[in-house]
Amino acid sequence: MARNRISFVCQNCGAVSSRWQGKCDSCGEWNSLTEEAETGGVGGGPQAASRRGRPVALQSLAGVVEDAPRIRTGIGEFDRVTGGGFVNGSALLIGGDPGIGKSTLLLQAAAALAQAGRSVVYISGEEAVAQIRLRAERLGIAGAPVQLAAETSVEDILATLAEARPPALVVIDSVQTLWTAIAESAPGTVTQVRAAAQALIRYAKQTGATVCLVGHVTKDGQIAGPRVVEHMVDGVLYFEGEGGNRYRILRAVKNRFGPTDEIGVFEMTGAGLCEVPNPSELFLGERGGAAPGSAVFAGMEGTRPLLVEIQALVSPSPLGTPRRAVIGWEASRLAMVLAVLEARCGVRFGSSDIYLNVAGGLRINEPAADLAVAAAVLSSLSGVTLPPGCVYFGEISLSGAVRPVAQTAARLKEAERLGFDRAVLPGASVAKEARGMVGARGIDNVAALVADIAAAARPQLRSAAI
Ligand code: TYD
Ligand code: MG
Repeated sequence: MARNRISFVCQNCGAVSSRWQGKCDSCGEWNSLTEEAETGGVGGGPQAASRRGRPVALQSLAGVVEDAPRIRTGIGEFDRVTGGGFVNGSALLIGGDPGIGKSTLLLQAAAALAQAGRSVVYISGEEAVAQIRLRAERLGIAGAPVQLAAETSVEDILATLAEARPPALVVIDSVQTLWTAIAESAPGTVTQVRAAAQALIRYAKQTGATVCLVGHVTKDGQIAGPRVVEHMVDGVLYFEGEGGNRYRILRAVKNRFGPTDEIGVFEMTGAGLCEVPNPSELFLGERGGAAPGSAVFAGMEGTRPLLVEIQALVSPSPLGTPRRAVIGWEASRLAMVLAVLEARCGVRFGSSDIYLNVAGGLRINEPAADLAVAAAVLSSLSGVTLPPGCVYFGEISLSGAVRPVAQTAARLKEAERLGFDRAVLPGASVAKEARGMVGARGIDNVAALVADIAAAARPQLRSAAI
């Protein structure tokens, strides 16, 4: 039998090192290496290196493909993110900060499937059965025939599942609480998480059941983040939301059976998570009266257009190095937009603090938001309220040019649907896609936006003086 060796595994990134060191060479995290016993097999390399290989039949790329069989939960926003429902035999990882609502979402999905006549097993390593029942009662789904267990041993879980016909869905909450006898380290360590996940993924592939693993994302590296599991599973969904905000966004960051840029929007209420099928209405619904510094961005999340309010506040700074605080967007992208406005249009921000916020707790990743951000910042700086009923989108290049972005028609259609009748967008897109639309103002350079806002400033300032 192979001798067990000791190795040191980074609890942050999973890198293995043969000796202890204060800082992980791979990810740069301090004090994240812990001692773990290497075992053969899982995580420790091939167990029987002496076995001779046998040739496998190679096949051609072309061939008959069948659509992956899927089961829909009936929770529309969830199904949208998974790409149309759970794929049989697939393994999904649902990540997110503790307390964001992962258990609630999965319990609701499990109950919906069970009510539709599928067999569903929900195994919790974090909560007692009574606690889960209490939650189900609160959610009004206590009547659903979900089979519950509070268990953390992988061997016991697999033995339990092997007793009956494989269920359609197995929920494991959470992967960090699991432990398996084949790995010798403590629960929650990288070796354990990896070994446990591997065993459950193998179960999914063998039986055709869908396995959903819940994983907490922690920043301090104490508990192995689910990152080590990400490459093993078929799909990774992240459940996000800003602290204090009711809205939660489910985002696919990896999906072997569907698109990865779809989001599902939920609202956390007293009775659990409710779907928000028209997020634009929600993100805009809370907009107060128009004020300087607010611009509406016509964005896209996957295949769905989404209008969001971008708020900026530019105020004189008492500090030598002014503050730049950004929520919901990339700080480096804001720095770039500001630099372009300074260098190409002569707008000065050097002595101003700038705060940027995307309303509703959404995180925007699109460069198309550049123009809306520029409009919001300029509006706050000049004190000019942007025209109500106007949306902005377009990518700003370092030269100051406004570049076309994808899906112009879908963005404009969503804006029209919500009663917006004007749009500021890249000039090239107007010629191609927005012909005939009322109020479409195409601009080729960000200087045109600055000029528009400066022109609007004069009458507004005059009426303020009267
Ligand atoms: P939970 O699903 O336990 O989070 P996670 O599994 O991601 O750690 O959700 C916890 C939070 O959700 C908790 O702070 C309370 C809140 N919540 C509601 O607001 N309404 C509800 O109906 C439920 C069940 C939870
Ligand atoms: Mg939980």
